[in-house]
Amino acid sequence: MCGIIGIVSTNDVGKDMLTALEKMLYRGVDSSGMAVVSEGKILIRKGVGKVGEVDRAVRLRDLHGRVGIGHNRWATTGKVSQENAHPHTDCQGKIAVVHNGIVENFEELKSQLIRDGHRFASETDTEVIPHLIEQHLQRGFEEAVRKAFLSLRGRNAFVALHIDTPAVIAARKGSPLIVGVGKGEMYIASDITAFLDHTREVMYLDDDEMVVLQEHPVFRSISTGQQVEKRRVVIGWDAQDAEKGDYPHFLLKEIMEQKETIWRAINQKDEDILEIARTINSAPHTYFTGCGTAGKVCRAGEYLFSKIAGKHVDVTVASEFPNFEHLLNDQSLLIAISQSGETADVLEAIERAKKRGTRVLSLVNVEGSSLDRLSDTSVLLKAGPEKAVASTKATTAQLALVTLLAYATAGKLRQGKSLLFDVAGEVNDLLNPRYEERVRSLAKRIYKSPNIFIIGRGANFPIAQEAAIKIMEVSYIHAQGFAGGELKHGPLALITPGTPCIVLVANDELKEGILVNAQEIKARGGLVIGISPQNHSVFDEWIRVPDAGDASPIVNLIPIQLLAYQLGLLRKTDVDMPRNLSKSVTVK
Ligand code: G6P
Repeated sequence: MCGIIGIVSTNDVGKDMLTALEKMLYRGVDSSGMAVVSEGKILIRKGVGKVGEVDRAVRLRDLHGRVGIGHNRWATTGKVSQENAHPHTDCQGKIAVVHNGIVENFEELKSQLIRDGHRFASETDTEVIPHLIEQHLQRGFEEAVRKAFLSLRGRNAFVALHIDTPAVIAARKGSPLIVGVGKGEMYIASDITAFLDHTREVMYLDDDEMVVLQEHPVFRSISTGQQVEKRRVVIGWDAQDAEKGDYPHFLLKEIMEQKETIWRAINQKDEDILEIARTINSAPHTYFTGCGTAGKVCRAGEYLFSKIAGKHVDVTVASEFPNFEHLLNDQSLLIAISQSGETADVLEAIERAKKRGTRVLSLVNVEGSSLDRLSDTSVLLKAGPEKAVASTKATTAQLALVTLLAYATAGKLRQGKSLLFDVAGEVNDLLNPRYEERVRSLAKRIYKSPNIFIIGRGANFPIAQEAAIKIMEVSYIHAQGFAGGELKHGPLALITPGTPCIVLVANDELKEGILVNAQEIKARGGLVIGISPQNHSVFDEWIRVPDAGDASPIVNLIPIQLLAYQLGLLRKTDVDMPRNLSKSVTVK
């Protein structure tokens, strides 16, 4: 979703704003813009395209000033156009605003503002914000921002500047904003990676809070106007973790980092994991929730808990959570899984659960994210920054932790740890250039196919669905994942000679069944690609994975991630930033 940055400095901010926008590109972007206060004027440049293209067209880098705001837009309200790109201004051009979120009541607000004589230049919901601030400006800029924010409905974060104020003011509810404390320079951004080059010292803006960003930032509650004290926190990531290094793409870098990240994810304190296991065991109902790839990890969790711990857990994707929330109470436990910790549907689900007194545990990658801070307990995935839109290392870290929790809940923490440490070692060995080459040769065979199907049984069924997400988003090939046993209830009609079908096999009691399904595909002329610890006569192609027992979902996913990457390269897609998608979905 949109990336926003505000900088107040003793030096020129133009170059740092441009860099910050470039660092946030991975969140998804269709247009970009910047505004600075310079010699008593607000200067704005913006345009359609990624920030580099916009810079080439309108020279963003030539904007000079000590106070500035910038924006990467991922369109929601209003088409992708120059007029709709941020920043947006009031009637006088004295206030500029960049925004992330959706102003749910914007039509109502806009009609009223037009009746009051305001003139609008875009189709966006954002533009109501500078006009609302203008409306209250006689109370001073800070109070006007507070009043304007109180009129907005929905999950919103914005950063505003005013022609006569040597500060930027930011406010949030729902969408993330983090203050970075630099040397002679203060930042506010939707994302830590925007300013990680300059500082690791941060202060979190919480919901219903605003901050006047200046040499010493002042935080206030939006509803009461009272000042709020904040702690400075040093975060564990460093700038290099968020760079591509020698890799051509973030996606490949992050796939390769799984050599270490699985190990890091399970390297948690035993007492912490045992405490969570006790909570799970004492809760009469445990629910898992997440979105997208993390939602598939939740589904895998359902199988893993059933098999390893003999415990039933309920799973619902976070956007569907409101249909089930009435089933939760103060005895229930909700486990939320998320890479970013900022996905709007997940945050809303946990807010709803908390209102019912439900305890919330999260498995989350981004330390200090909204989910991390709102949860009663959170376990950090420790995967480091994940920048490719398609989640890889965070996913396997989540799977490893869920597997570990299932073992701990079964009273077998040691056994689970030992299995997962072995698997982490095997993944380290697997990710070698020969393996990459093997997957590349398979990709060359199938990259022109219009469809790819994936089947699995047990915990490998949700992994088949996750495999489909990976292939679709990275290569734009239509892909679908099914439970092996469901094939003959519809999907078989789509298997024609040569249709690639990936069969995820684990060396367990489900192996026989999934191999029968592979035969069904073969009998219709499908190209059977086995991802399996052992070769089998039914496979036309075989990609070997380690025999990982209950951790087979982790190892089966890794060749799929590599395959999606190779398919994307062959089809010349933007593998790090697939079209229409966003890394961090902060709107509902
Ligand atoms: C977006 C991302 C996916 C991710 C999903 C949930 O759609 O592109 O990769 O799985 O959001 O994100 P979260 O940060 O909550 O895991």
